[in-house]
Amino acid sequence: MSGRMKGKIVSVYGSLVIAEMEDRVVQNSVGYCHRSDGTRLLSEVIRVRGQLADLQVFEETRGLKTGDEVEFRAEMLSVVLGPGLLGQVYDGLQNPLPELAQRVGYFLAPGTYVPGLSTAVTWDFTPSAKVGDSVVAGDTLGTVPEGIFTHRIMAPFAWRGRYTVERIASAGQYTIDAEIATVVDAQGERRVVTMQQTWPVKVPLNVSRRRLLPTEPLVTRVRIVDSMFPIVRGGTYCIPGPFGAGKTVLQQITSRHAEIDVVVFAACGERAGEVVETLRDFPKLIDPRTGRSLMERTIIVCNTSAMPVAAREASVYTAATLAEYYRQMGLDVLLLADSTSRWAQAMRELSGRLEEIPGEEAFPAYLESRIAAFYERAGVLELTDGQLGSLTIGGTVSPAGGNFEEPVTQGTLKVVGAFLGLSRARSDARRYPAIDPLDSWSKYRGIIEPAKVLQMRRLLAQGHEVRQMMTVVGEEGTSAEDFAIALKADFFDNCFLQQNAFDDVDGATPAERQRFVFDKALQVVELDLAGLDKTQLREVMVRAADWFRNWNYAASGSSEYDRYLHEIDRFIADRQQSTP
Ligand SMILES: Nc1ncnc2c1ncn2[C@@H]1O[C@H](COP(=O)(O)OP(=O)(O)O)[C@@H](O)[C@H]1O
Ligand SMILES: [Mg+2]
Repeated sequence: MSGRMKGKIVSVYGSLVIAEMEDRVVQNSVGYCHRSDGTRLLSEVIRVRGQLADLQVFEETRGLKTGDEVEFRAEMLSVVLGPGLLGQVYDGLQNPLPELAQRVGYFLAPGTYVPGLSTAVTWDFTPSAKVGDSVVAGDTLGTVPEGIFTHRIMAPFAWRGRYTVERIASAGQYTIDAEIATVVDAQGERRVVTMQQTWPVKVPLNVSRRRLLPTEPLVTRVRIVDSMFPIVRGGTYCIPGPFGAGKTVLQQITSRHAEIDVVVFAACGERAGEVVETLRDFPKLIDPRTGRSLMERTIIVCNTSAMPVAAREASVYTAATLAEYYRQMGLDVLLLADSTSRWAQAMRELSGRLEEIPGEEAFPAYLESRIAAFYERAGVLELTDGQLGSLTIGGTVSPAGGNFEEPVTQGTLKVVGAFLGLSRARSDARRYPAIDPLDSWSKYRGIIEPAKVLQMRRLLAQGHEVRQMMTVVGEEGTSAEDFAIALKADFFDNCFLQQNAFDDVDGATPAERQRFVFDKALQVVELDLAGLDKTQLREVMVRAADWFRNWNYAASGSSEYDRYLHEIDRFIADRQQSTP
């Protein structure tokens, strides 16, 4: 396919345009539809049938008509990569939306494309490659400071083979479009390198020696996650839950407290309000590590249902590519998609317009493979220099009515490593985070010994059974032994699984402290309470719960912390002694 080719529009159906091509164009290449007023609208070729190309337009197609010209490009939908991405708020096509946070409901006019990175800003470049060095795609040529990170300027990821550095810029201030190196290949072909490069969003970016199995726990400081349903660096997880159950709050907590470097947040809201909330809340979040705005190490890619459907679908890929780019620098990146159900709905709409044969609930038949391909972009890479970089992906799913038996939840369940299912009953009872400890699971090994985790899961399941029985037979019909099990399960739930997201101490528990508290809680649930009647049992467990809750709120190393720990230890020793 050479340079630019032309075509003519034969019909327009909403965001779907059919054009007749003069030459054959390639699927997934981009084309600009020229409105007669001169506006150019970006689109993507999604199907080629003989001389006809089906184009998905990323804009409102009003004003586009039969006979209008289409200009095809020999390139795929791409993003620009380079220093300056952190802190940005983009739409699905990487247009910066700086004003969106203040101006609710403001979107760019159709045909307005703003470069994703500014060429006016200069960056403090330090070369790391030397003249004569042999370099391949992804190798570091130099660095610039970007926020709290060292941003690597890497040889273009699309390169094939080796190049020799012929010239490298000296340390100094450069814009992203300035030449920083010239390289030459074995045939003597010369190339100029700048600090920016492009990458097609639908192609995973993973230039590396190899992929490693993700095994290192990613500590989120959310106790129920780290201790019971762990996630790992380079792994995947999903958070399904009904509206209002706490999916977005959980992702915000994780963004702040998880032990990772860069956060990329793909906000796909159903209503404009949800995304506006994200844009309003996120910049206010304080990074506990720096005491400054969390935005300094965050990128937001957002869209709402007010935006054209194709742009909504593309936004998830745009976010994935930006996240992968920072992984190439040896950083640990967390990509959060909220909600993948909206993304799937965009897919369904597009598929409907193409009149494809629908699958379950009118989603396209390829829904599952698209979901799988998205989560497969996660992973730990050993980069070309031997360093490791990771991308962890977490997506929320918002099934209608909270019913998990639907295609998006089910398709996601098949591919992710951990399932953090939120329950309406728990959120209604304000038991936050409302992750259901009976329904959730993780295939990963976390910070607590699996045997201990299993022991607690059994207790929770038994406690639940007793509670269910009690609704039938009442407290009188329940044995003291069963009653003690229910109380112990409640104790662990209240004092460990539940956490106050809005408290500085309780809201974020480091791994070491989690292990310590978990073991103490285990000692309590292992206490032999035989011989106590129900009133005494309740009294004992309420006392234990009080100490633990106060302890959770006490800062590590404070005198309060020591005091509550002392009380707990004395309580455990007393109970152990009183057992014959
Ligand atoms: N961990 C939490 N701690 C305290 N309150 C929470 C927590 N999670 C959710 N909430 C409450 O529930 C409301 C809805 O949560 P949100 O995350 O927006 O739900 P969803 O994204 O699932 O629709 C929040 O505004 C907040 O008041
Ligand atoms: Mg939400």
